[in-house]
Formats: sequence, structure tokens, C-alpha cells
Amino acid sequence: MKILGYLGSPRVKGLTGRLLQSTLDGAASSGAEVKRIDLIKCSIKFCMGCGNCYSKNPELSIGVCPLKDDMAGILEEYMQADGYVYASPTYDMYVTALMKMFLERKIAFTYKAKEDAGLFPTPRPGVAVNFTKKASMIVTGNSADEFKEVMGDPCFEAMEGDLIWEQIDTVDTLYVGGVETIPEEVLAERMDTAYKMGKRLVEEIEKSRQ
Ligand SMILES: Cc1cc2nc3c(=O)[nH]c(=O)nc-3n(C[C@H](O)[C@H](O)[C@H](O)COP(=O)(O)O)c2cc1C
Repeated sequence: MKILGYLGSPRVKGLTGRLLQSTLDGAASSGAEVKRIDLIKCSIKFCMGCGNCYSKNPELSIGVCPLKDDMAGILEEYMQADGYVYASPTYDMYVTALMKMFLERKIAFTYKAKEDAGLFPTPRPGVAVNFTKKASMIVTGNSADEFKEVMGDPCFEAMEGDLIWEQIDTVDTLYVGGVETIPEEVLAERMDTAYKMGKRLVEEIEKSRQ
């Protein structure tokens, strides 16, 4: 089983990255092969809205984007994996622009025929997985834990957006607030929660396939 973790923080050694790593370590301890993708190190260009990827080649699993960057490879690897961990700090009460760029480019997993104008796009072949893949999510913010609803929830919703047509459920969401001044013992507790999330992600994927 392969689990991929996507880091939307530009600070690869920041707290979001540490929490993501802990979740991946937990998944690895349960037997998964894990890989962390620091989006800041990837070449991901802005979606230019040309529609090429979603309006042509319905037979392909990934629509063809004219932009020359790392995204085609990232999407191919995504298709091969069994589970995902999305991690982003909240910036201006939403996911970072870095995470959003990645999420927008996942539109290449969808297809929409001209006659379907006004309707939702549909998943391309092999993209909708009937809930046999799962995801978990981490959001960090300076605002304390009690602001999860305003700071965390919009980010979770953004990251879950595409998962609806991929037919992938979210297993856990973790908001870690007050990161500027988080006491060591609280951080240790949160790292442990993140680790257990990784273990649970593997268990839930296994269960969905029994
Ligand atoms: C541009 C910017 C906007 C931010 N906006 C918010 C915000 O709306 N709410 C919040 O709680 N924290 C906000 N923060 C704080 C970040 O969420 C915090 O620095 C981040 O969780 C730290 O994660 P990292 O260690 O991975 O960088 C913002 C930080 C930056 C740089």
C-alpha cells in the first residue's frame, strides 16, 4: 500500500511538515510505503483556465495540460497510490496558494463534454475508486484550537473538494492551532495524534478492501 503526503507549506521544516511527517511515519509503522511531496520543491504552474485538460481525450485517465511542469508526473503518481495526506497551513483563513495551485491542477482528472455545459465534470477512467482509497488532512494556524471552525474547516473543505468525484472519504482531520507559542508538551501530544492518524489511515484503507 502506498500513501502520499502533500505539503502545502512553503517552510519544509515548519510545523505543518513535521506533523505531516509524523502521519506518514505512523502509516509506515503499519506497513505502508510512504512518500512526502513538498509542493514548494515542485514546478507547478498556475492553471491558465484553457480547458484543454478537461474537454478533450475522454479515454485518458489524466487530461493533457499544455503547461510544461511537474504536474503530469505528480498526477500519475497520485493515480498509483492508495491513500493521501493533505497538509497545509491556513493563510488568510484558507489553504496556501501553493496548495491551491496543486488542487486546481487536479481538474485534469475530470472530463466534461461540450453538451454537458452547466453540469459538473465527470471523473476520467480509473479516477473514481468507489471509496477504496482514503485521505486524512492536517491544517495548522496561529489562531488557537477554538478557531478551528473559521481557520481549519474552509481548508479541509478545499482539500476535500476533488475527493468527492474521486470517491475518496476523509478518515481524519486535524487542526493544530496556536502554533507560534505551542508548548512542547502540547506539540508532542499533537505529533502523537498525527502519528495515530497515519496508522488509522492504513487500517481504514485495508478495511474498505475486505
Ligand atoms: C500570509 C500568511 C497568512 C496567514 N494567515 C493566517 C490565518 O488566517 N489564520 C491563522 O490562524 N494563521 C495564519 N497564518 C499563520 C500560519 O498559519 C502559520 O504560520 C503556519 O501554521 C505555520 O506553519 P509552518 O510551520 O508549516 O510554516 C498566516 C501566515 C502567513 C505567512
